[in-house]
Amino acid sequence: MKVVVVGSGIAGLTAALHAHERGHSVTVLTKGALGDGCTGYAQGGVAGMYGSDDSPAQHAADTLAAAAGLADPAAVEALVEGAGAGIAELIMRGVAFDRSADGTLLRGREAAHSRARIAHAGGDATGAAIARALVSATRASAITVVEQAFLLDLVVTDGAVRGARVLVDGVPTPVDAEAVVLATGGAGHLYAHTTNPEGTTGDGIAAALRAGADVADLEFVQFHPTILAAGPAFLVSEAVRGEGATLIDDDGRRFTFDSHPDGELAPRDVVARVIARCAAEQGSPVRLDATMLGAETLRDRFPTIDRVTRERGFDWAHAPIPVTPAAHYLMGGIVTDVDGRSTIPGLFAVGETARTGVHGANRLASNSLLEGAVFGARAAAALALPWPAESRARRATIPARAAAPGDDSAVPFTDTAPHTDTTPFTDTAAFTRAELQRLMWDDVGLLRTAEGLRRARDTIAVWTAQPHSARAIADHEDANLLLLAAATVSAALDRTESVGSHHLETTAAPVLEIA
Ligand code: SIN
Repeated sequence: MKVVVVGSGIAGLTAALHAHERGHSVTVLTKGALGDGCTGYAQGGVAGMYGSDDSPAQHAADTLAAAAGLADPAAVEALVEGAGAGIAELIMRGVAFDRSADGTLLRGREAAHSRARIAHAGGDATGAAIARALVSATRASAITVVEQAFLLDLVVTDGAVRGARVLVDGVPTPVDAEAVVLATGGAGHLYAHTTNPEGTTGDGIAAALRAGADVADLEFVQFHPTILAAGPAFLVSEAVRGEGATLIDDDGRRFTFDSHPDGELAPRDVVARVIARCAAEQGSPVRLDATMLGAETLRDRFPTIDRVTRERGFDWAHAPIPVTPAAHYLMGGIVTDVDGRSTIPGLFAVGETARTGVHGANRLASNSLLEGAVFGARAAAALALPWPAESRARRATIPARAAAPGDDSAVPFTDTAPHTDTTPFTDTAAFTRAELQRLMWDDVGLLRTAEGLRRARDTIAVWTAQPHSARAIADHEDANLLLLAAATVSAALDRTESVGSHHLETTAAPVLEIA
């Protein structure tokens, strides 16, 4: 079968390698160079390495609890049951996970995991090790790789996906396929501050929306709590808190226990919110205190963070460092079944692009690399199977277009918060990506309000109605971001109660400014 995989992170390359090993003719299309993208940046590891006090069932229970009741138990079961094989495969492909002196694989702990079960490589460079291994396995195979290929749209014929149109060297080029696997990552660049590398603009999800695929849970955007609050966004792994680092306010007080009994190791959404509130109240970033771990442990266990913090003028072995939340991971995406099938025959989605149901309203740390490994392989195994008559019960489809300004009927919304500002929104600045990112950060971010969501919806509707040229890749990315912004706001307005990462304030949201 002729298979096209779009994207080259852990999910895409796992799908491509498995499909190739099953005898399919595979082409990988990737926007940058092979292996560019979020996977290579992942500091956290791969969850699912179970010790004698642990089990897939315990991992499933933690995953379901973090998801705030909105994960799909069948998808979570597939995830945890696939963990052993997924990690073994990564080792087989050359990923050198960290081991103790006697050769035993080390297990780390991260927030909301009740056990130490995370495999890391190179301390805090797990994603880079995985990207290297999978890129090298792909290059050594007969898989066709087309780099600098930008996905314009999916080709749908008679209700089934039959390929894609891509921009290669500025030329729109059709690529035929019997199956397309989308693995283009999330959409962190919807926001002014994000851990995601350039190019994470939701291209696959936007193309799927335009093709008519079901998309869900876009309102669930995970903000990572601890980004170094100095210079370009740089993540300070949750594993640092897993090793014992604490979060303190200007008075040196561990404030996270005010919100959750697990303090710094509470679910990520809780920690991110309490940091945002504390920073807004004290007018300066909170600090991460890792001094108790000692210079040697910090250097050996977290070499990347140690180097970058020092480059930016901090000595974290001797003084706490300023941290702040930033947009990190999209829990929602293209609705799939447990084998990566979307609601359009021939179209699969894996990794962050997919809404498999494993994350619900809040992803558990280090479950995403695992998801890419497990579901990439599952999708490849399903390629040759007959497409089920009903691959999945259809979930709520998110409207692709925003309502007209002031038109409340198109997007039902029940106010849970008193409105303090009822001024009609009239002074929309011209669209730029930076304006969109600022709007999303301010009004569709970590702490949301009814007024903010309405303001975002109206502004996006005005921008959407403006004429857009789409010649350069950046123009296409802007169009994708605008479409996803509309869908995200629409989903956020539809969800009228706070749950997990979708949090509605009942009073004006505190302002989270990042220099
Ligand atoms: C981290 O290392 O804190 C990030 C891990 C993840 O997002 O899963």
